[in-house]
Formats: sequence, structure tokens, C-alpha cells
Amino acid sequence: MNTVWNGAGRRIEICDVGMRDGLQMEAQFVPTEDKIALVDALSAAGLAKIEVTSFTSPTAIPALRDAEVVMREIARRPGVTYTALVPNARGAERAIESRTDELNLVMSVSETHNLANLRMTRAQSFAALAHVVAMAQAARVSVNVSLSCVFGCPMEGDVALDGVWDWVQRFAGLGVAGITLCDTTGMAYPSQVAQVVAQARARWPGLAFTLHFHNTRGMGLANVLAAIDAGADRFDASLGGLGGCPYAPGATGNVCTEEIVHALALMDYDTGVQLSALIAAAARLPALIGHEVPSQIARAGRRLDLHPVPAGFDAIRERALAR
Ligand code: COA
Ligand code: ZN
Repeated sequence: MNTVWNGAGRRIEICDVGMRDGLQMEAQFVPTEDKIALVDALSAAGLAKIEVTSFTSPTAIPALRDAEVVMREIARRPGVTYTALVPNARGAERAIESRTDELNLVMSVSETHNLANLRMTRAQSFAALAHVVAMAQAARVSVNVSLSCVFGCPMEGDVALDGVWDWVQRFAGLGVAGITLCDTTGMAYPSQVAQVVAQARARWPGLAFTLHFHNTRGMGLANVLAAIDAGADRFDASLGGLGGCPYAPGATGNVCTEEIVHALALMDYDTGVQLSALIAAAARLPALIGHEVPSQIARAGRRLDLHPVPAGFDAIRERALAR
């Protein structure tokens, strides 16, 4: 039998990206103190890593214009990594000044999406990010690179894997600690994921790979399981299933943290996350963003959150038994 169905206590690290990938898309500005409270709730729930915010241009992403205050005022829990998305050197300066544990740099493996999102060619992005990596190394801050559109680009279509590996190799050559392979608009499918993860791990056994899926076409959890089966053990997911890149047409929510944690707990994987605390944190979201969240767990509850029997049940049973 395939090993994926029984985790046997295997450790899977979840990074919640709801405060960044999630809130960057929201029209309603979430007050700074509520952002801080949500990050603190995620820390208390036991997430391994939290993407707290992004140090982007406030005109490009107004929802996260309070990045410094949020990063400075969260309660740091030992063992939790507090990361933030950084698009350029200006963002890196701000992130380092705000005591960010890890800079999550971003570029797209699709030329079209890179131009749309970051207003640069990929070659220009790489040159700029190489400088940012050097800044982080000088400040002794860890670096992860998120590569967008690895599993397909909403404007170009399929992206050649050899091209993806060239970018991974170039960042590995700069000495970054980790690479996140992002399915920015939910184009990944399980057999493709298995192939990508197996190749990545075989080529760079020393690099920490994270998988970042969006549930745009309902394949999110299937992709997570396919990746686990191929050896992946780090995933991005977002509280409530919020999320999406404002510069990628058709983008919708990430895989939902409470759905993934719930499923993995049933299958005996160890995410270290307390599900009830996570669900309580997700329950705060609708009031803050002004609409319901995609989370199926928010709607349905956990598998064993049982319901009372219908009214008149004793009479129903007696009648049935009397037949
Ligand atoms: N933090 C704060 N301000 C920034 C900034 C940063 N990281 N990067 C740029 N700016 C400011 C500049 O200071 C400048 O301000 P000014 O007009 O008051 O002088 C303005 O933004 C334009 O700067 P410029 O260097 O011309 O950048 P740009 O307009 O080409 O923007 C990006 C490039 C990528 C920095 C910007 O578009 C951005 O932050 N995009 C968000 C990308 C993102 O997060 N996408 C979703 C996640 S994948
Ligand atoms: Zn994303």
C-alpha cells in the first residue's frame, strides 16, 4: 500500500501565509491591532512558521502598509519562524530593521507574470535579488525564495521544468536556505506535483523545499498528499483559505490551513498545530474582512464534531423497533 495514507507520526511543517497572501487581496483594511492578535493566535496554535506581512510598496499592496508595526509588535514565540515577503532592497531594509527572522524573496519563473507582478524581467529580478541576498547574509538573516508559477502561468501556460531548475540552481548558488515552489493560480495537479517534488529533492538534497498551493481548481489537498508521498514535508497554507496574487488573473485562495491540519491529523501526521485554537483564530476572520472565508472546516466543523439526533428520535426508534 502507498505510504501516504499513514503518516506514522511523520513531522510536517506548516507555514501560515494568511496574513500575507490572504490579506494582500482583501479590499477591507484589517486594523493593525487585529493583525497582531491574529499572528499571536497562530503562534499560540503551534504553527512552525508564520508569514506575518509583506514589505512591499504601500501603493502596490495598501492592505499591508502597516508591515513594520505588525512585525515589531507581535509576541515572538521561541521556535516559531516569523517570515515576510520582500520584493526588493527597500523591502529588505525595512524587514531587517523590523527584526524579521527570514526574508521571503519572490520572483516568477514566468517572464510575463514577473513583469506583471514585479515590473521587471526575470533577469532584472535575479540581479536585484542577488543584492538582497547579500544584504540578508550581511545582517545574518535567513533567506527563502518563493518562485511563482512553477506549475503553470495563467498567461503563458505550462512552464518548462528545466527553466525552473535553472532558477533554483542560481539561487542555490547564492547560498539561500530554502526555495518555495509556488502554484500561484491553482494549476498544479497531483501527478505533476509528484514529479516536480521528486526531481527537486533528488537534485538539491540539502535545500529546504516548501510547496505552496492554491485551491483554485479544487486540487489543493490532493496536491499536498501527492507532495508528501514524494517526500515533501513543508507546506504553505492560509488561515480560512484566504489568498491570491492581485497580479495573477483568476487567482483565488491558498489551501486552507485548518483543512490541511485537520486532514493530516486524521492520517497521523504531526503538524504540531492545535486544531481547536486554529479554528478559533479562523472564526475571527469574517468580521475583520467583511465576508465569509472559503474554509470547509469553518462551515462543517471537524469530522467528529457530532450533531444532536433529530427531534422525536426516541419515538422514531420505538416505532421502528415495533415493526
Ligand atoms: N517598500 C516601500 N516602498 C517601496 C518599496 C518597498 N519595498 N518598493 C518600492 N517602493 C516605493 C518607492 O519608494 C516609490 O515610492 P515613491 O513613488 O513615493 O518614490 C514607489 O514605491 C515606486 O518605486 P519603484 O522602485 O519604481 O517600484 P515599482 O513601482 O516598480 O514597484 C514593486 C515595484 C515590486 C516593489 C511594487 O510593485 C510592489 O511592491 N509590488 C507588490 C508585489 C506583490 O507583493 N505581489 C503579490 C505577492 S506575489
Ligand atoms: Zn500564493
